[in-house]
Amino acid sequence: MKGEQNGEARIPRHVAIIMDGNGRWAKRRFLPRGAGHRAGMNRMIPLVEHIFTRGVKFVTLYALSTENLSRPKEELEGLFALLREYFFDCTEKLKRKGIRLKIIGERNLLPEDIALLIERGETETASGESGTLFIAVAYGSRQEIVRAANKALASAGEITAETLSEAMDTGDAPDPDLLIRTGKETRLSNFLLWQSAYTELYFSDKMFPAFENKDFDRALADYAKRNRRFGKV
Ligand code: IPE
Ligand code: IPE
Ligand code: MG
Repeated sequence: MKGEQNGEARIPRHVAIIMDGNGRWAKRRFLPRGAGHRAGMNRMIPLVEHIFTRGVKFVTLYALSTENLSRPKEELEGLFALLREYFFDCTEKLKRKGIRLKIIGERNLLPEDIALLIERGETETASGESGTLFIAVAYGSRQEIVRAANKALASAGEITAETLSEAMDTGDAPDPDLLIRTGKETRLSNFLLWQSAYTELYFSDKMFPAFENKDFDRALADYAKRNRRFGKV
């Protein structure tokens, strides 16, 4: 596997998070779904900062799937408005911390001004060397695999596990060591299917806006106890 971490490594190099449960968090509080997305955004920012202080080098967040793009227009507009509101400040913060930002997925499916914001955020943070933050927006793993296969074929003339891995949106990042899904569901919902072949999975019952830094530390402690065998004995 790419960047295989042996059984001894206790801090995951790459953590992926499916940030699920914003809508249910809001519903339980008799609030509109949009309030849940805002609370999720307000949780995401300090959580990411916390994760990097734990020594993790790569973080991949699932923010919006390709399939989510067929949600009601009103909900999507609310999500895009949040991006417009928060993106600039987030980029500045990342830049100060030396974190490189990369948005993965199909940005041509997003409104043009959001695609431009993303591009600027990536350029602004490109020289960051302390860590990498991937945010999956309009992302679907099957779609990514198909794109990567075509890319590998065109540039390398051949598809191998290595050329395909490199052609993925996550590029030369190691495969995720730990994948956390909040919000009680225990499925991958079209996220990092290729990259998570040997990833340790962790499911939390907490809705994403209620997933605290200490819940993340609990997941890390759980990861540290696991024995990763990669098929060996
Ligand atoms: C995750 O929360 C965020 C997005 C998919 C945009 P949901 O919106 O899926 O929240 P639930 O699962 O309905 O609670
Ligand atoms: C997965 O959550 C996508 C994100 C969290 C961005 P969904 O809420 O879309 O997943 P399903 O529909 O429950 O599988
Ligand atoms: Mg959901």
